[in-house]
Amino acid sequence: MKTAITEMFGIEHPIIQGGMHYVGFAELAAAVSNAGGLGIITGLTQKTPELLAKEIARCHDLTDKPFGVNLTFLPTFSAPPYPEYIAAIREGGIKIVETAGRSPEQYMPALKAGGIKVIHKCTSVRHSLKAEQIGCDAVSVDGFECGGHPGEDDMPNMILLPRAAEELKIPFVASGGMADARSLVAALALGAAGMNMGTRFIATKEAPVHDNVKRALVDATELDTRLVMRALRNTERVLKNKGVDRLIEIEREKGAKLQIADIHAEVAGVYPKVMIDGEMDAGAWSCGMVVGLIKDVPTVKELIDRIMADAERIILDRLAGFVGAESKAALRVA
Ligand SMILES: Cc1cc2nc3c(=O)[nH]c(=O)nc-3n(C[C@H](O)[C@H](O)[C@H](O)COP(=O)(O)O)c2cc1C
Repeated sequence: MKTAITEMFGIEHPIIQGGMHYVGFAELAAAVSNAGGLGIITGLTQKTPELLAKEIARCHDLTDKPFGVNLTFLPTFSAPPYPEYIAAIREGGIKIVETAGRSPEQYMPALKAGGIKVIHKCTSVRHSLKAEQIGCDAVSVDGFECGGHPGEDDMPNMILLPRAAEELKIPFVASGGMADARSLVAALALGAAGMNMGTRFIATKEAPVHDNVKRALVDATELDTRLVMRALRNTERVLKNKGVDRLIEIEREKGAKLQIADIHAEVAGVYPKVMIDGEMDAGAWSCGMVVGLIKDVPTVKELIDRIMADAERIILDRLAGFVGAESKAALRVA
């Protein structure tokens, strides 16, 4: 399937694996790229630029296909040394960067000087247009359904994607709530040139996380995510667990007076506990509503092959079946 995104990134299928803290290691990124999608290493999971350089080298050993690096600009107490991370990315021969969080404007000259294509992930039309204006090559339009940070507009993809299509000149992928061929075909119908998946890729054989995490994703339903940190304007969609119940109780008590220090135990240092040690009640970790569509733990290649084969069937059988012979002849569709 050729789209503006497959052409731009030199990939076979219009499927991207979004950056994920403590999930987006070389093993997963390489598996996605080897299966014809675009794998992405999560830059800031590597504690230093030197460690990121090593992770990039490890990924080059695992695949000859293109892969990218995610750079997330989120509010933190002490900002990571972004220029040094970008230097590691450039020196590692990376040609695709997924940015997220704040606007990457400040870092665009350094990224562009490295011949890097930038796909910025954002949750609104206005931020997508800003990304286009500052020279991003593509956008990952992330709807309210998404795992991670859906922003504060609460705009689901059924509205957000066609609005993005109306306004944007650069290509975009649909992100948030994407799980299977139905998601891909719907995303294409709404104007996207592909899809970005986060949560779905965690429930794969190659995702280097504890089996408890994969089991929790298979067991959960679409009703099991919660929004936290709204009072801090840093809303995050997470999987419900005992730590999240505690967090929500604190949020209820503190109301608008909530400060990050109040929920430190429930949000800080949670990822290694969950993803490496499998402590499922440790606290808040990102998970999308799409968890309700996850029923198995296939290999990445099985997942991507299934999506592409089913997408063809949906387009050729189901959708084409709705169009009458006369219309097909008039449109010159086989
Ligand atoms: C466990 C987890 C960790 C994530 N960490 C990051 C991150 O560090 N940076 C980022 O830009 N996005 C992060 N995301 C968001 C994903 O890249 C992607 O945009 C999102 O998962 C899409 O929604 P979906 O989960 O419905 O597919 C994370 C998502 C999950 C599920």
